[in-house]
Amino acid sequence: MRVLDLGTGTGNLAARFAAFACTVIGVDFSSEMLAAARRKVPDARFVRGDLTGGLDLLGDERFDLIVSAYVFHEFDLSTKVSILKRFVRDHLTERKRMIIGDIAFPTVKEREEAHRRWAAQWDEEEHYWAADEAIAACEKAGLQARYVQVSCCGGVFST
Ligand SMILES: C[S@@+](CC[C@H](N)C(=O)[O-])C[C@H]1O[C@@H](n2cnc3c(N)ncnc32)[C@H](O)[C@@H]1O
Repeated sequence: MRVLDLGTGTGNLAARFAAFACTVIGVDFSSEMLAAARRKVPDARFVRGDLTGGLDLLGDERFDLIVSAYVFHEFDLSTKVSILKRFVRDHLTERKRMIIGDIAFPTVKEREEAHRRWAAQWDEEEHYWAADEAIAACEKAGLQARYVQVSCCGGVFST
């Protein structure tokens, strides 16, 4: 299986797939992170690039699975959706599987409650997901997504 890991960091997620003999490409805009990833996962290929820009380095390469962990909270909702749309269109095979794990809440209301509860720890510059608004925005953009809450503040989206 060919796997693309967006915002691969030090390659934690890439390593899981490389261990199953997948062909793995990790993308990140930090050369320090990529240096660590190359040491940790020598069998994978790592590419430097900004997810918010065009990733010319990937050319027309397509993947069976696109994954990402703890990255998309960096982007506001419309940026999230436009990145997802671009990767689904340009880099997924027909099977179209994308799995995104991140800091997330089931609804906008629950995110607001969490914001009040954890105000001291909340990073105001980050854009934690609310699944209800994200799924609606994805559907409007032609992407069908499902969501599973896996902890008090973490969840997984999949197409
Ligand atoms: C919290 S780390 C997560 C790393 C890895 N996915 C993991 O779970 O261990 C977030 C990563 O996203 C990368 N990142 C953030 N914004 C990015 C962007 N616009 N383009 C590419 N990489 C980005 C950061 O450099 C960092 O390595």
